[in-house]
Amino acid sequence: MIGIIGAMEEEVAALKEAMEIEETVEQAGMTFCKGTLCGKEAVVVRSGIGKVNAGICAQILVDRFRADTLINTGIAGSLDAKIDIGDMVISTDAVHHDMDASIFGDPVGQVPRMDTLFFPADEALVQKALQANEKANPDIHTYTGRIASGDQFIASKEVKDKIVQNFHPMCVEMEGAGIAHAAYLNKVSYVIIRAISDKADNSATMDYPTFEQQAINHSVRLMKELLTII
Ligand code: ADE
Repeated sequence: MIGIIGAMEEEVAALKEAMEIEETVEQAGMTFCKGTLCGKEAVVVRSGIGKVNAGICAQILVDRFRADTLINTGIAGSLDAKIDIGDMVISTDAVHHDMDASIFGDPVGQVPRMDTLFFPADEALVQKALQANEKANPDIHTYTGRIASGDQFIASKEVKDKIVQNFHPMCVEMEGAGIAHAAYLNKVSYVIIRAISDKADNSATMDYPTFEQQAINHSVRLMKELLTII
């Protein structure tokens, strides 16, 4: 079973439209749509914003729907000058950029007493997402790399620079590491696929609404293609 988590209703709505829905289940204020999407058994759900919502959502997908694969789609702010609005980033790993127990000697981002700082994505899924994206969105640039997540919308150059300095990620968003963390603990595979909607600096709140729809269109096209090959 493939669990597909989107943070935004618009994106999830497009996937639900393409889905043959067999059952709709409510839990923790989330609506889980179970059915067949592009020939695969899947559950599509909107987690809501932030890492806690995302982690709860992922755990329900694993426990109640027996998901063995978690895919998180959505939009993100670019943290690298070469990655532009409209480009796509596929995770190789994810980190909590807002976790900080460094006063006790842990590296910033490390959840104390966990045995990993970065949560690795499933390599085969990453390759398939890349392949799917080449087919679905041949005209856009796609990068693979680290994704940093935190419960903050990043819209200041100073905060952005700090995240870059600490983790060297490609983009920043607000759910991925919550899902990656849940995938790690439950030993299921995951990948995060994000379309860039802004530059996570002082221009971020201006760019965001303009490019949101374009970013959603790209990630929905990619998701449909990916489901046909996994
Ligand atoms: N999602 C899209 N853009 C973002 C940003 N700048 N910060 C956090 N999450 C985002």
